[in-house]
Amino acid sequence: MAKPLPVLLDVDTGGDDALALLLAMASPALDVRGITCVAGNCALERVVTNTLTLLDAIEAPPVPVAAGMDRPVLDPGLPAPPLHGGDGMGDLGLGAPRRSRVDDHAVEFLRRTLSDAEEPMTMICLAPLSNIAMLLRMYPCVGEKIERLYVMGGTYAAPGNTTPAAEFNVRYDPEAASVVLQSGLPVTLYPLDPFMQVRITEEEAEALTRSRGSSARIAGGIILHYCRFFGMAFSLIGDAGTVATVIDPEGATTLERPVHVELSSGITRGATVFDRRILTDGFAREGEWTEVDVVTKVDAPRYRKLMAAALGAVEALDD
Ligand code: BDR
Ligand code: CA
Repeated sequence: MAKPLPVLLDVDTGGDDALALLLAMASPALDVRGITCVAGNCALERVVTNTLTLLDAIEAPPVPVAAGMDRPVLDPGLPAPPLHGGDGMGDLGLGAPRRSRVDDHAVEFLRRTLSDAEEPMTMICLAPLSNIAMLLRMYPCVGEKIERLYVMGGTYAAPGNTTPAAEFNVRYDPEAASVVLQSGLPVTLYPLDPFMQVRITEEEAEALTRSRGSSARIAGGIILHYCRFFGMAFSLIGDAGTVATVIDPEGATTLERPVHVELSSGITRGATVFDRRILTDGFAREGEWTEVDVVTKVDAPRYRKLMAAALGAVEALDD
């Protein structure tokens, strides 16, 4: 079996960040070397508490968790979206954390971890990019220790979810997203298009809540929370799909495309504008553009299976 890939996760836990953490922590393909927290789905302190509580609940090994930016680099931030529940993680009543965060700020933790790493590391960014933008601006040298950034953010051809044009993570901190995407580092963007494709039904979520393992029970509770919030018979694995793309890139269809993050203050602020024209050579394109690999489609049954296996609950999800 191949050596597990060393990864760092940046999260705003967040019900679907929690699903992503459950997948990452359970996957034998990944070696999670640290988790950094940032304000987004809920206030920073809540994100840290949720992350620590989740790790306790699954009896995870002592992976370092660091608190980072409590607001975007320029904007004041957006109100917490109500969909994640009063505690930001589906109101499962998991209690207070027993483990502690590390003392370092997330940016310092990332600088130290990357500088000390023997080989470049993969970063999985599932939240507003405030921590990562600050890291790259303050310590540009660490870029040589980053193998690739997998970023959940933006839209390719899908509509936005926070405004008609913009996805939450990019709309929350557009300047940070622009800094990261323009950094010249290899980026795989996992936008709302594939994010919306991997579903779990309410019935399957109920079956998960009856599982023996704590990861499956928590995942089931979170998915049920979203089903009930939206009044839908299914919900999404959301950010966990980004982790699935790292574990199993062959399940994703990826295109190399130029992208621009809209920073103006109008109704398109935070939109990721892709040049989707078939012929782009010789055609005008004003402003700053950068090439990223963008995931446009995923093999949903394949990622559902990956998720079910990681949760130890293959029998709970239909084929
Ligand atoms: C993204 O925003 C948050 O609501 C989710 O955690 C995900 O990272 C989707 O727009
Ligand atoms: Ca998130």
